[in-house]
Amino acid sequence: MRWQLHVAKLAVMGRLPFGAGLRAVKRRFLGYPPNRGNLKGTLRDLEEMVGELAGMGRSLKGATVLEIGSGWFPVIPVMLAAADAQRVYLSDLTPRIDRGTLAATLGFLRSEHKDLGVVKHASRLEDFPFVYLAPLDLRRVEDQSVDFIMSRAVLEHIQKDDLLTLFRSLRPKLKADGLMLHCVDHSDHLEHHDKRLTKVNFLTWSDELHTLVNALTREGENRLRHSDYVGLLAECGYEVIKANACMHEPTRQIAKGLRLAPRFRDLTPDEIAVLRSVYVAGLREPRADFRD
Ligand SMILES: C[S@@+](CC[C@H](N)C(=O)[O-])C[C@H]1O[C@@H](n2cnc3c(N)ncnc32)[C@H](O)[C@@H]1O
Repeated sequence: MRWQLHVAKLAVMGRLPFGAGLRAVKRRFLGYPPNRGNLKGTLRDLEEMVGELAGMGRSLKGATVLEIGSGWFPVIPVMLAAADAQRVYLSDLTPRIDRGTLAATLGFLRSEHKDLGVVKHASRLEDFPFVYLAPLDLRRVEDQSVDFIMSRAVLEHIQKDDLLTLFRSLRPKLKADGLMLHCVDHSDHLEHHDKRLTKVNFLTWSDELHTLVNALTREGENRLRHSDYVGLLAECGYEVIKANACMHEPTRQIAKGLRLAPRFRDLTPDEIAVLRSVYVAGLREPRADFRD
């Protein structure tokens, strides 16, 4: 589908009276089958984040974990529970997970031959050590109680100022040796729907066009690049321990000839072609600047 049509569809659907209710009714009767490719991608990204933890000698067993933006299919929370996390806070802007999407997630994980460990017989949200915060109300999370904060495919949807606010508000929730792990997709998500676009098409847009598309779809991306996140985390009092950048070679080649918007013209093709990152960050000078 042409990206302009997709934007128009989202703009209309998001503004229909009773739009959310209609969607819920449709899903109730027709179900909401997950895209297996997406769920596999979620598993792969989680495995990388858990691998980073293991490499630092850290384990999920007995941990308290807060996931930002759990989405519709709670692959990450279920796998955290399977790894024996003691408590998993799920979060979102509004509740998205229901019995159907949980069942689809469990079906997917079981068909992937994933060992669901201690939750292998679980089937309802109440069977898991979950606390669902939708909206994300951090007053419900005790200060200095969280071992790990995680997100996957979420931060790119949060605008820069809101991201700064979020990072700052999360600081007090981490234990002194707590860690944040974030997996970010830096690509233009409209390319998922219109394959004629490059994966960094939105970097050619003026700020005005980008703002307009985000306003229409209400789910746009922030266009922050790999190094911007490192800077934002540092600005909010975190020490970035790792910043793994995954470069997309075809995009690197395309980037050499792209007519970028002025704000991106100083970026090298290598920088433009980083389409996925995993960040691991801890508290800088724990507790010293606790009350920011
Ligand atoms: C692309 S989905 C990713 C879902 C899931 N993490 C995954 O990888 O499958 C992004 C999710 O983040 C949620 N989200 C966006 N901004 C958020 C915020 N500020 N706080 C919590 N959740 C947010 C969206 O509502 C959506 O459910």
